[in-house]
Amino acid sequence: MQKVLFCGTFAPGLEGLIEKYLEKRSKNIKIIQKAHGLIFCESTYSLHELRQLKVFNALYLVIVKLQDGDFFDLSKRIQRVLANKKDTIRSYIKNKKFNLFFFENGKSLKINDEIYFSIADSIRDSLGIHKSSNDGQLDISVIKRSDIGVFAGIKIIKDETIGKTRGMLPFALSYLISWYSEPKPDDVICDPFFGYGGLAEARAKGFPFKKYIISDKSIETKQFMVDFKKKLSNVEFYTSDVMTDGFKAESNTVSRVLTDPPWGDFENIDQIDNLYINIIKEVNRVLKYGGKAVLIVSRDLSNFVSMKASSGEYGKWKIFDRIDILISGKKASILKLEKI
Ligand SMILES: C[S@@+](CC[C@H](N)C(=O)[O-])C[C@H]1O[C@@H](n2cnc3c(N)ncnc32)[C@H](O)[C@@H]1O
Repeated sequence: MQKVLFCGTFAPGLEGLIEKYLEKRSKNIKIIQKAHGLIFCESTYSLHELRQLKVFNALYLVIVKLQDGDFFDLSKRIQRVLANKKDTIRSYIKNKKFNLFFFENGKSLKINDEIYFSIADSIRDSLGIHKSSNDGQLDISVIKRSDIGVFAGIKIIKDETIGKTRGMLPFALSYLISWYSEPKPDDVICDPFFGYGGLAEARAKGFPFKKYIISDKSIETKQFMVDFKKKLSNVEFYTSDVMTDGFKAESNTVSRVLTDPPWGDFENIDQIDNLYINIIKEVNRVLKYGGKAVLIVSRDLSNFVSMKASSGEYGKWKIFDRIDILISGKKASILKLEKI
């Protein structure tokens, strides 16, 4: 199998974590370039094997990439490159109609006809697929950014959960966070801010566990908890408020707290400082020694949470480096703590 260049996209800020994940995951992936929210890698993986990576919002099979150059330069190169790579690229796609999009520095772009048709016709002639007016099943994007140059890529994988349910953490991000928690098959996991279950679903689908204890204060989320329990064995669920009832787990019984408390519009959340203090107290209470917590918190309050954890008032912790990320353009941080 010929090597292909692919480009994975993810929430900006996860560059370091994605790199570690890919390095640990496989020798059949060579990282070529890392940039804000995306990574270019080479591999001989099949589509099925690429799907197992699970950490990307989208994965593009790169047709051609120019580090220095413009849309025009790319349009001149595309036919030549496709002549050499045609069979490899065709093995990743079925005969489909394609849509063609152009982006410059993150914004959608209307390109002039000469470049548009030069690229569209080269793709059609070389790969034997057809351009659609708007209902193609295959998205091909030509993306130009000042830091990475310009590339044309076929979107071969996308995280279908993105934008599906407002407030739900997307699968790819949740899967990476679950991996970061160093999952073990005998994990007893607690998620007291279950919401629509995006994070818990990815942990449960992605890695084996022993028991999941989930809760949320909102009655709206109950059906999601019921559905989660139906799909899995050994799930306990509760409708419960952390402020009044704490976490619904016995002391020193949990090996992982994996949770996503409210953080988006934190200025509007009543008593957010107290909520975060309660979380640290409860994480300390329920975790066994050596147990780990991975929390998504508001970026503006992440120092407050780390300070409280390191104050000694709420147990002793190893605090891992904070990871600052953007989720749907909003600033959040991922905190990882180990009870010592
Ligand atoms: C950011 S959302 C969690 C989203 C979830 N990770 C998902 O993927 O769907 C935060 C959740 O915390 C719940 N919540 C807010 N305050 C709470 C509290 N005091 N006790 C328990 N749950 C609370 C909200 O109802 C909401 O469902």
